Amino acid sequence: MPGTRKHPRQAHPRRNASIVATGMYLPERVLTNAELEKLVDTTDEWIQTRTGIKERRIAAEGEFTSDLGAKAALDAMHEGGIFADEIDLIIVATCTADTIFPSTACRIQQKIGAKKAAAFDIQAACSGFLYGLIVAEQFVASHVYETVLVIGAEKLSSIVNWKDRNTCVLFGDGAGAVIIRNRAEGHGILASDMGADGSQSDILSLPSSGCAIPVSEAVIQEGLQYLQMSGKEVYKHAVTAMNSSAEKTLARAGLKGSDIALVVPHQANLRIIETLAQKLKTDMDHCYVNIGRYGNMSAACIPVALHEASKEGRLKAGDNVLMVAFGGGLTWASVALEW
Ligand code: ACO
Repeated sequence: MPGTRKHPRQAHPRRNASIVATGMYLPERVLTNAELEKLVDTTDEWIQTRTGIKERRIAAEGEFTSDLGAKAALDAMHEGGIFADEIDLIIVATCTADTIFPSTACRIQQKIGAKKAAAFDIQAACSGFLYGLIVAEQFVASHVYETVLVIGAEKLSSIVNWKDRNTCVLFGDGAGAVIIRNRAEGHGILASDMGADGSQSDILSLPSSGCAIPVSEAVIQEGLQYLQMSGKEVYKHAVTAMNSSAEKTLARAGLKGSDIALVVPHQANLRIIETLAQKLKTDMDHCYVNIGRYGNMSAACIPVALHEASKEGRLKAGDNVLMVAFGGGLTWASVALEW
């Protein structure tokens, strides 16, 4: 009868979207705090007590964000037994794209041979991976796509001023990837939250990176091609925004902090993670921390941490996992899922 036929998507209720595989890639070069002591006026003791960072990875010259992301993607595809031609969509979260266009996602599509996949970048700084995961969930839950690859990849060493001790000690390079599919067992992603506050955009930014301040000699003299951060301000906003986003997601999922088997937070500062754990009424044993080894890898932090937690046996089927991030924009996001 005319008018009664349902569109195929309406005929199917939303389905779960689960992480079915994870992967990561870290550059070989390890840069220690002792080496930074020779570059700027800092100490291993200052860096460790203020941030928790001991060392970080630095990509090789000629090794770009798309190279790191492609290797992380291949690792996830290998783990999941998923072939390149099965991937419908590639989402890359990065604030250190190889180029503004073509997108890093397009470059990765070519590098991994996923010829069938649509591809685009997401830019939400350190929150980018969770923004990407939430977007991926919509495509899978609404039956539009079967297999979505979400990558967080960064070459932050390319935008750090190696003469500025306030920032150069904090960041590292790396990439993590996850594959999202519907899975018969479990609930997958349970709830999420995203937010932004553009009024605070100046406290964490890369001023000369687009059309507003094109590169010129004057820009280079002023160092505007490097990441600028008002650390104390960012710290205060990070603690508040991560906690309130996490609380919203927990409430939407009908969970309490104590129901979470593992919190996988953005790794910007150990003290931020400790405060978050206190506010969520959980403890550090239930938080995954790898900031000591890698520093802040922005959008790559959470997928790398998730992959390591999974490999170390810290995630069992049915566990509730809470991921929460905060970054430039300002942006924040959180996702609760059943592993
Ligand atoms: N070594 C030695 N001394 C240092 C260093 C260093 N590497 N860096 C700063 N200092 C000095 C400062 O100059 C200052 O000296 P002064 O008191 O003589 O002026 C002193 O240490 C204290 O500096 P603060 O900035 O007040 O130190 P704080 O305890 O706030 O720690 C830090 C700084 C680590 C940056 C912290 O504020 C922080 O982690 N902020 C959050 C960063 C973050 O979350 N970023 C996330 C997003 S990143 C993204 O989106 C790409």
